[in-house]
Amino acid sequence: MLDKIHILIPEVQDTSIKTKEDLEQFRIHYQGRKGVLAGLFEDFKTVPPAQKKETGRILNDLKMAIQARIDTFIQEAGTKEETPSTEFDLTRPVTYMEPGPRHPLSIVRNQIIEIFSRIGYTVAEDREIEDDWHNFTALNFPEEHPARDMQDTFFIEKNPDIALRTHTSSVQIRTMEQNQPPIRSIFPGRVFRNEAISARAHCIFHQVEGLYVDKDVSFRDLKQTLLYFAKEVFGEDTQIRLRPSYFPFTEPSGEMDVSCNICGGKGCNICKYTGWVEILGCGMVDPAVLENCNIDSEIYTGFAFGMGIERITMLKYQIKDLRLFFENDLRFLNQFRGII
Ligand code: PHE
Repeated sequence: MLDKIHILIPEVQDTSIKTKEDLEQFRIHYQGRKGVLAGLFEDFKTVPPAQKKETGRILNDLKMAIQARIDTFIQEAGTKEETPSTEFDLTRPVTYMEPGPRHPLSIVRNQIIEIFSRIGYTVAEDREIEDDWHNFTALNFPEEHPARDMQDTFFIEKNPDIALRTHTSSVQIRTMEQNQPPIRSIFPGRVFRNEAISARAHCIFHQVEGLYVDKDVSFRDLKQTLLYFAKEVFGEDTQIRLRPSYFPFTEPSGEMDVSCNICGGKGCNICKYTGWVEILGCGMVDPAVLENCNIDSEIYTGFAFGMGIERITMLKYQIKDLRLFFENDLRFLNQFRGII
């Protein structure tokens, strides 16, 4: 009897059960009233007392192996039923797909747009491939002038020059060509410069430039507008400071720093221990630029400013490496979940 059971155990384990019918057959064969197990338990009665212990143990192993085989099949069939059926069942619960979080650059671009729209600025966008006139000449960059080297340009064609725009000032020109003052707009968009990629620079980045042209627009208006903006983005306690600078299309020109919101002005490695961080360039629109767009510079004045969205975002969220914006690493992007 022992030998018989020893053969039966692997036999049970190897039986292939594919369908519910197979399972039923298996059950009847082994567990049925006249089945294998019942027969063996009947025979067990006649086993001599000395062998009862050993035989009983092995008989029990067989019984468990049979049950285990049945349980495995039921379990496998259960998981199989969870895979989607091809039948169309409207009552099935949907598979939840979590929506992606908004990209940090989009979050900050939208904030900038919102802040300026509150004080009457509209939004204008235009092409990324520009001609020389709109990217340079109309902006008072004379031909062959070294100022053109300030922005390492990706040229697509030479003579006449077609290039990837190096700033969204090109949209300022297009806006002034198409509209007479008052003009009060901001220009968000992608810009391109031939720079080596590092933690602080990239060949593609995003700008928002702004332009206000009307009668009696002064440097005071510029300063107050930028102070309002800085406080809205970085908080009420933020201070600004303007330093003289140079751009071909503005005169006078300035660069604006904000008080470092990371150390509160005490000095840290973000502000290089100065307490200030530069965030934008600005100035009064050069009269020659207005004239290039057929706006009478005797009647109208204007100011312009331009900032990099990456820079603002890095300061706002304390991001130390600009390349993170372009790598689409979900561990980075998911940290912005829930921010609109
Ligand atoms: N166009 C300048 C740049 O990309 C920024 C700027 C805009 C400066 C408007 C002054 C006025 O660097």
